[in-house]
Amino acid sequence: MAVLNIPDQQFSTADVAEIRTFLNTRGIWFDQWEAKENLPEDADQDAVLNAYAYVLQPFMQKNGYQVADVININSTTPNYEALRNKFLSEHRHTEDEVRFFVAGKGYFWFNLDNGSDPVFNVLCEAGDLISVPAHTRHWFDAGQKNPAVKTIRMFIDQSGWVPHYTESGIDQVYQPTIADV
Ligand code: LAC
Ligand code: NI
Repeated sequence: MAVLNIPDQQFSTADVAEIRTFLNTRGIWFDQWEAKENLPEDADQDAVLNAYAYVLQPFMQKNGYQVADVININSTTPNYEALRNKFLSEHRHTEDEVRFFVAGKGYFWFNLDNGSDPVFNVLCEAGDLISVPAHTRHWFDAGQKNPAVKTIRMFIDQSGWVPHYTESGIDQVYQPTIADV
C-alpha cells in the first residue's frame, strides 16, 4: 500500500492507479507485486529472492538487471543514524535505483528537474516496486526511530549505485515533515 504526498499542495493519495499514473508519466516506474504473506520474518536473502523469483526473474530479464540482493534495516541495525543520514541527503545515481518492498516502509522523496513539479514523496510499503530513474534527485527516509525496511534491490551494475550528493540542502526543508515513519 503506497501513498503519494505533495506537501506544497497539501495533496495526498493512496489510490494505486493514480499513484502509478502520476509516477509513470514522470518516468518513474511503479508497480505492485503480491506480497508473500507466508514468508517468515527472518527469511534469509535466498529465501526472499526465491519467494519472488516468479515475478523477479522476468522483470530483471526484461529490464536488463543482472544482480539482486536483499537489504534489511531494523532497530538492531548498527549505526542506523549514520546510515539514515546517508540516505537523507539529496543525491543521484548513474543507474536506476530499483527497490521492491518485501516488508517495512520508507519514504522516497523526489525533486525532479522538470521545472514544474514540486518536491513529492512516495511512502512505499510491502508489495510496492519502485524505480528511481538514473540521475534523478532523490532521498530516502525510513524514520528516526524503529526503522523497518526489507527490500529487494536490483542492479545492472552495482557500481552505478554510488550516491552523488547534490548538497542542495533541500532535503532539510522537507525532512522535518516526517516526525516518525
Ligand atoms: C539509496 C536510497 C535509499 O540510495 O536512495 O539506497
Ligand atoms: Ni539513492
